[in-house]
Amino acid sequence: MTMREIKLHDRSAFVAMRNAGQLAARVMDYLAPHVVPGVSTGKLDQLAHDFIIANHAIPAPLNYKGFPKSICTSVNHVVCHGIPDDKKILLAGDIINIDVTVILDGWHGDTSRMYWAGEPPLKAKKLTDVTYDAMMVGIKAIKPGGHFGDIGAAIQKFVAPHRYSIVRDFCGHGLGRVFHDEPNVMHHAQPERGAAFRPGMFFTVEPMLNIGTHEVKVLQDGWTAVTRDKSLSAQFEHTVGIGEHGVEIFTTSPAGLHHPPY
Ligand code: MF3
Ligand code: CO
Ligand code: CO
Repeated sequence: MTMREIKLHDRSAFVAMRNAGQLAARVMDYLAPHVVPGVSTGKLDQLAHDFIIANHAIPAPLNYKGFPKSICTSVNHVVCHGIPDDKKILLAGDIINIDVTVILDGWHGDTSRMYWAGEPPLKAKKLTDVTYDAMMVGIKAIKPGGHFGDIGAAIQKFVAPHRYSIVRDFCGHGLGRVFHDEPNVMHHAQPERGAAFRPGMFFTVEPMLNIGTHEVKVLQDGWTAVTRDKSLSAQFEHTVGIGEHGVEIFTTSPAGLHHPPY
């Protein structure tokens, strides 16, 4: 039987993850003023790639399972894993998720934020705000004695009154020296289910919310995931670690650019 064990990391790994997470967050901060109507997602990829290389790190997505670019850029009804393209130009009112993962000294820092090109419609702004809050509610559910299911249960309870749906086909994940490791972190789950939280665990919380149904499909390129009903989708992602005294977010914005407007 294959073992599905969640790695427990030591203090030196926390230092490494703090460094990787902070670099990923700095990439996001750096991109903020560039996300404007008229910019291409290919240009954002190039800016992020060059910034990461200049900081002695590696963009983890590049060539990962054949992914062709250094970041993911997911516009409007694209749920995740959108491929940057010089021909894809942002229009005023678009919302975009940019997902950055760096490898610094062998450790992964994985984070994503929403950005607004110009002034999006109110329903897009509300979706963005609720998605950020859903991620933070999920992170706050990580407590000693709890279980991974508590994260998804807390997110579900928070999102329900807003009538958005939670994407089920993509999850958060353990990470460290490995990009996608055990466990799967569900954003839609039952309380007290799943593995118990233990100090030394590193993983992401990265909920995706849709205005319409939760159903997604992957396009012919093998990567781009879109909402089946073409409704808007939003996502935020942090990399976190469980310390002896509680959860630590590694990917907090050093510039305070937590959610738009920036
Ligand atoms: N960063 C994404 C995540 O949150 C994964 C991107 S994999 C890629 O897990 F190949 F699409 F880049
Ligand atoms: Co991730
Ligand atoms: Co990511």
